[in-house]
Amino acid sequence: MKHRKLWLTMTVLALMTAAASARYYSLNPQVFMTQQRLTYMANLTPLLLHITGGTVALTTGPFQFLTGLRGRRPTLHRWLGRVYLLGALAAGVGGLLMARIAFGGPVARIGFAVLALEMLGATAVALGAVLRRRIPAHREWMTRSYALVFVAVTFRLFLIPTFLGAPFAPVYAADAWLSTIVNLLVAEALIRRARRPRASGARPLTGGSETAPAAGRTIGSPSSAG
Ligand code: HEM
Repeated sequence: MKHRKLWLTMTVLALMTAAASARYYSLNPQVFMTQQRLTYMANLTPLLLHITGGTVALTTGPFQFLTGLRGRRPTLHRWLGRVYLLGALAAGVGGLLMARIAFGGPVARIGFAVLALEMLGATAVALGAVLRRRIPAHREWMTRSYALVFVAVTFRLFLIPTFLGAPFAPVYAADAWLSTIVNLLVAEALIRRARRPRASGARPLTGGSETAPAAGRTIGSPSSAG
């Protein structure tokens, strides 16, 4: 039940962030991030590539964590996985292009670039693992991949102090690193918890090449994306 609440909270926050990002499709600079209006108007192609890919990855990712869905609809699961991969690729490449011109100076720019490379790397390792049928490793790397995509949510939550008077530029730059670190720590905690043998005596979730995860698990155990 605790996991279900976590999954629901994560999914609602992901959908809200994706919905808020959709305002960019209006191409109306008035709704763009205030500090970056001119920059974004001059870089619409990488911006829209990034937002489209980010929206796809952010909204499909949560459903890959539902083992019930994978068990009942494996074909849907595999197709959603392919869509997620394309979304992550577009978000990462677009994110790298946007990192060069991001607000917040070199600290933020390097932070965003590192995030994009980590997310692309984790997703590539997850893909390589599933192609070699290394399902537990695939699951763990997909957890890291989605945790990095989910930085889009955490990053915005960590900007809340700026609405309460904290200075925007330094908080924004620090946030580019802090949100990544926090999400990676949460991902590692979930992965470690999923590795522990369950009290019922069931086998651990890592090692070997199992393909059928325990039923009812909803988080910390994303399954095949390929
Ligand atoms: C690896 C993950 C991601 C990286 C590296 C990344 C990187 C970036 C960068 C560098 C910018 C420009 C920021 C600036 O101008 O200061 C940006 C903006 C933006 N990104 Fe991402 N991003 C990621 C994930 C996402 C996701 C999943 C979404 C979901 C739709 C998203 C939506 C946006 C939006 C809407 C903007 C425009 C600025 C705003 O209004 O907040 N990003 N991103």
